[in-house]
Amino acid sequence: MTTTDLEYHPYANIFPMISQPELQALARDIKENGQQVPIYLYEGKILDGRNRYAACKLAGVEPNIIDWRPEGQDSPLTWVISLNLHRRHLTPSQRAVVAVEILPIFERDALERKSLGGKHKQDFASVISGPIGQARTHAKALMGVNHRYISIVKLLKADAPDLYVKVRDGELVATEAEAVLKGRRMREANLARLSRLRDMPEDERCKLLVGDFREVLHGVPDNSVDMILTDPPYLGEYLDVWEPLSRLGERVLKPGGVLVSYSGHYWLGDVIMALKSHLSMGWVFCLRMSGGGGTRLMRHNKIATCWKPLIMVYKAPYKQPDGVFSDMIDEAGFRDKQYHEWQQGEVGVSKVMQQFTDREGLVIDPFLGGGTTAVVARDLGRRFVGCDISEEAVNLTRARLQETTPRSLP
Ligand SMILES: C[S@@+](CC[C@H](N)C(=O)[O-])C[C@H]1O[C@@H](n2cnc3c(N)ncnc32)[C@H](O)[C@@H]1O
Repeated sequence: MTTTDLEYHPYANIFPMISQPELQALARDIKENGQQVPIYLYEGKILDGRNRYAACKLAGVEPNIIDWRPEGQDSPLTWVISLNLHRRHLTPSQRAVVAVEILPIFERDALERKSLGGKHKQDFASVISGPIGQARTHAKALMGVNHRYISIVKLLKADAPDLYVKVRDGELVATEAEAVLKGRRMREANLARLSRLRDMPEDERCKLLVGDFREVLHGVPDNSVDMILTDPPYLGEYLDVWEPLSRLGERVLKPGGVLVSYSGHYWLGDVIMALKSHLSMGWVFCLRMSGGGGTRLMRHNKIATCWKPLIMVYKAPYKQPDGVFSDMIDEAGFRDKQYHEWQQGEVGVSKVMQQFTDREGLVIDPFLGGGTTAVVARDLGRRFVGCDISEEAVNLTRARLQETTPRSLP
């Protein structure tokens, strides 16, 4: 039997593939111990065994492939479903995705049976009997998923395919994805409203620039800045911004001035090394985020993220702050993403800015995003310079400043 490029059967595609590390582990196992379970073909396509097939290819092992034959009353679909449900550790959200994938198949089958006047009662749906209205209940019962999760997943499938894939692959739970979608819609509505405001004149105490921070901040005088407070993107592809950020700090910060940056976890070691390249190491603060809000589940390591590192470096000599500052900054319950997908909470930004600057101090943020630092700087009476490579982000910041009035912050 030829093994080159076998197609996957649509029933098999209902279930997520295993992750890359899991696939590599399976390939190693197959290489060492052989392929224990065959790959099943139905209608010339892989009905079960996509992962084994991919792993065999990876391991350079000739796969063992056989044709699927019905046993008892199983249809190919019900066989695949029960097999995967017993074998895979799917979360309730992933089960909802599977339920949503099989719903149309059940519904089509129910319609066919209805139109055939029950002639096919012994067919594929031995587990599924009943009219179309019951298809959802059958899918739900089969997958053990509640109605709300199914509704969310259906909505994601229609309106946010990228979030749907994240739920299917276990990166987000359904309710988290729903919250992200709500945030997106709110921001879209905000953008439309804010676009009317953005041409209003700029505050002379706050300068906003469009462009790469490595190019547009040349006008900031040497030794003039009290604090750089910023939040670059955390992905590996942005690792090259951290060393120039440190170099910028070395040039523009006053002696004793600090650079505090939000960071993700994955690249923390590289980020700290880069930030230390032109400035002195200060501390790593912990911004506690969860509690009142959702947690993010990292798919491969199954870790719910409840805190974020804030790295502080400074331009020597270190200037002792007046009061004692805890390295645990609590922002739990203050989640706000209404202006920008990556928006930080004003509470955390405010606590850090107050600790390291005085009124009238000059703060800069080279990665504005939704402009949280600009708004907080205004509210705390600091002067501010910010930039973003995205014109939309700068316009959004400008409009947010126009729209909101100064508040007192904790
Ligand atoms: C994580 S977001 C900042 C979110 C912000 N802290 C907030 O509360 O809304 C990072 C921003 O950096 C911007 N950016 C990425 N590379 C840049 C660069 N080289 N120069 C300036 N801005 C950049 C992105 O456009 C994005 O808006």
